[in-house]
Amino acid sequence: MRYLTIALTKGRLAQETLSLFEAAGITSAGADDTKTRKLIFTNEEMGIRFFLAKGPDVPTYVAYGAADIGIVGRDTILEEGRKIYEVLDLGYGACRMCICGPESAAAILKSGDQFRVATKYPNIAKDYFLNRRHQTVEIIKLSGSIELAPIVGLSEVICDIVETGSTLRENGLTVLEEVCPLSARVVVNQVSMKMENARITELITRLKEALDKKCS
Ligand code: PRP
Repeated sequence: MRYLTIALTKGRLAQETLSLFEAAGITSAGADDTKTRKLIFTNEEMGIRFFLAKGPDVPTYVAYGAADIGIVGRDTILEEGRKIYEVLDLGYGACRMCICGPESAAAILKSGDQFRVATKYPNIAKDYFLNRRHQTVEIIKLSGSIELAPIVGLSEVICDIVETGSTLRENGLTVLEEVCPLSARVVVNQVSMKMENARITELITRLKEALDKKCS
């Protein structure tokens, strides 16, 4: 039997995803060992293998068919824009993509003047300002600690993830506009969806049942 390959996002989502798979009866010895340097974990009985990858790489593995299925945040799916199917909202990893800045930047957003937006998500930011707000802005790509940008004068606002809001609060910034809600999603390769339909459908059904149990 051909392995069904599942790409999981390393970091924040990994633990919750592995627990959900376990609750769904899909286990893989060693995958939850945070100290291991092993990259791929196999469940021979079920013909399934998992690997952990950096978030932005998960849609890439799935789009090319190196993974049949991926678990990744909606932020990454939107940013990467790969041709993949998004089939299930897992609910966890819930947060919001927002335009944030100091209170004083609210007026700049409305003014129609040019301003700068710092972000780790240039495609999401570009789409939001161009297609939803019909506004031309300068987008500056950063790799992290985005909240720094308006504080030190790199940009007027940022487009970033807000979860609890404490990073904003502790740095004197606020949410100015919401772009979209986010959470962890299951994505599937378009060819795998046809060729492995029965196995993928069964796996998704099991995940849905495990989610329902978790919520009840
Ligand atoms: C994310 C995001 C915000 C923060 C939001 O950063 O970019 O900075 O979390 O969370 P909060 O609303 O609960 O404070 P992350 O921790 O991933 O690090 P990064 O700044 O390096 O991207």
